[in-house]
Amino acid sequence: MTLSRHFSDRAQRMKPLAIRDILKKGADPEIIPFIAGQPEPSLFPTQAIGYQSNHIFESQGPEVLQYGNSQGLEKLRHWIAGRDSHVDPNNVVIISGSQQALDISAKLFVMPGDKVIVASPTYAGALGTYSLYGADFIGVPCDDEGMLPEALEAAMQNDPRLIYCIPNFMNPTGVNMSLARREHLARMAQQYDVPIIEDDPYGELRFEGERLPNIQELAPEHTMYASTFSKILAPGLRLAWIVAPDWLMEKLITAKQTSDLQSATYTQHFVSELLEDDFIVHHIGRLRHYYKKQRDVMVTAMKESFPSEINYSIPTGGMFIWCELPEQLNATQLLEQAFDKKVAYMPGSAFFHDGSGHHTVRLSFTIVNETQIKEGISLLGGLFKEAIASSV
Ligand SMILES: Cc1ncc(COP(=O)(O)O)c(C=O)c1O
Repeated sequence: MTLSRHFSDRAQRMKPLAIRDILKKGADPEIIPFIAGQPEPSLFPTQAIGYQSNHIFESQGPEVLQYGNSQGLEKLRHWIAGRDSHVDPNNVVIISGSQQALDISAKLFVMPGDKVIVASPTYAGALGTYSLYGADFIGVPCDDEGMLPEALEAAMQNDPRLIYCIPNFMNPTGVNMSLARREHLARMAQQYDVPIIEDDPYGELRFEGERLPNIQELAPEHTMYASTFSKILAPGLRLAWIVAPDWLMEKLITAKQTSDLQSATYTQHFVSELLEDDFIVHHIGRLRHYYKKQRDVMVTAMKESFPSEINYSIPTGGMFIWCELPEQLNATQLLEQAFDKKVAYMPGSAFFHDGSGHHTVRLSFTIVNETQIKEGISLLGGLFKEAIASSV
């Protein structure tokens, strides 16, 4: 007997993310994992978190375990607002991971069949969420500055309900959108009056170059901005935030309420304490330094081992290097052989709304040590060379 016929149309649309199975297989300690955007666990500030999470009971009492309000702890919202002089704490909502911002934005803006503009490729978790709500994606191709302006302008002609973007060190390509493209995107949203969801988990992980303005700074009335503690503290905390314009706040808080009432009061309290002094500034400095070194080791290894037919970008921040293999290769099929050689990556097609990009690969340089990077890249270089040789 099956009751699965009772699943809603929405549930029927649900598809598990491709990365789940790859991660499961890649959990074998013998496999060198270039798979996910996971922060390096030895960099989690376990001592500071351990101290604050205990100390908070002495300083604040048992109330830290009580229900709180849906918008989030005032002290934490003040800290977030204080990072940007133009943000008011009343326009901040604390959420349980930035993935929740995507879910909330889909609930608020997307009905089945609605057009949603995304970069092509883009974050697979966003594709999963918006398709659950019935989005009809318009993919905008990108170069190393971000979405192509002509293609974005063409997409705007199709009555989109939402634009989803990751301007800083985007997942999966690592591209940092140029200032001109940011300004163009902001202008498009304003001209056509379409809301933007700006997803920014990686902005703090900048290795070089100047900080560029967020879209939220350029088009504040049109932008719902989301960022997270996942990449700068630890993803297990499940703590993130949204900055939104006044007209959106009430619906936003109500949508958050219907999901989970509020994010964990306890976590919000001890994270607020953790943020009191300069700890986070130094911590982010350490993360930047570490991941930059990892990127450098990976790029050097790629220069040595990858065949010249493979194009790849050198990211100036974030966690990923994006590769384009020759068109005739299929990265999903090659992954099986990579596993046999004890190395794994994320096939790029998972990041395309239409399943294209079969010849693309995303490499993450975060949770592997230098020896593993050198060995894994050399193994992949050998695999790709063999695949190119046997494909011609
Ligand atoms: C672009 C992007 N958005 C959102 C998320 C989800 O992050 P969080 O842990 O804050 O839910 C990720 C995680 O990797 C991501 O890469």
